[in-house]
Amino acid sequence: MLKYTKDEIAKHYNDFDKLYENWSGVTQGGYHYGFAKEVNDIFFNDRMIGNLSNLIAESLGIRENGKNQSIFDAGCGVGDVSAIVAKHYNEAKIYGITISEEQYTIAQKKHPKTDKFCILKGDFESIQFEDSSFDTVFFVDSICHGEGDNKNVAISEAYRILKPGGRLVVCDVFLQKPKSKWSKWFNFVNKQMLDQWRVNEWIIEERFKKSAEQIGFVDYKATNLKWKIVPSVLHMIFTKIPWALYKSLTNKAYLKDLKAFIRMSIFVPLLGIHPIFHYQLITLQKPIKNLTEK
Ligand SMILES: C[S@@+](CC[C@H](N)C(=O)[O-])C[C@H]1O[C@@H](n2cnc3c(N)ncnc32)[C@H](O)[C@@H]1O
Repeated sequence: MLKYTKDEIAKHYNDFDKLYENWSGVTQGGYHYGFAKEVNDIFFNDRMIGNLSNLIAESLGIRENGKNQSIFDAGCGVGDVSAIVAKHYNEAKIYGITISEEQYTIAQKKHPKTDKFCILKGDFESIQFEDSSFDTVFFVDSICHGEGDNKNVAISEAYRILKPGGRLVVCDVFLQKPKSKWSKWFNFVNKQMLDQWRVNEWIIEERFKKSAEQIGFVDYKATNLKWKIVPSVLHMIFTKIPWALYKSLTNKAYLKDLKAFIRMSIFVPLLGIHPIFHYQLITLQKPIKNLTEK
């Protein structure tokens, strides 16, 4: 049985959205971390987060301004990443889904629906769109919540709704060894993070790749961003912990958040420096012709 059910994951995001916004330190962007392109960026986390947002947008394989193309953001939070993608491709049609009712409600206010932009409530393991509806499907820090360590259900759904020739993009934690090979120490630190983020299992890269290829995806490309995001992780630790401490001293309601901040500040770097841990941007293609067809 799963430790965290979908209802519990949804509740986590209903309750924690404010914390995530505070953690990221930006109201636009959605990501928790980013990377510096110029030396000066390391002092501004919103710039670093912006750089990662732009990298994701550029990796989607969308042509020019996105005319006659459609993009699906699976596990879209309050729609901030979709909104950044929309700035890159102002003619593309963009849909996002989140499992959280609260995020859905916030998204309606923050990014009102237009004929080109729409955030819905839904489940990325059972997507409410027909087969071959989208040119690109992307998951940013969300597929980790999917079932299993190969995320087979979520990527099968992505494959189904992608048009032939369409692209899947995943940015998330990818572990490099199966659980049977983890040390006690790694297991302990990892458990703290899984519990913090209500994740049942991170992706095991080897199993994810195999599963994606069995489903029919081709052209697997991976970029490990883990060392690039170090300045952003450090930035959060040095700016957010004093901030959270100050808030907790002035208002007891913030004590709950303080615990989460401290937990993330200690365990994220510990987990992150371990060689098993990668933070990757992966792209895959759905072939134009189904390779399993004769
Ligand atoms: C860490 S947040 C990331 C949000 C967004 N992609 C970003 O980067 O800002 C994870 C998101 O995954 C969503 N999520 C988790 N499980 C889901 C599911 N089965 N179907 C749809 N969304 C899901 C949560 O509601 C949340 O919006």
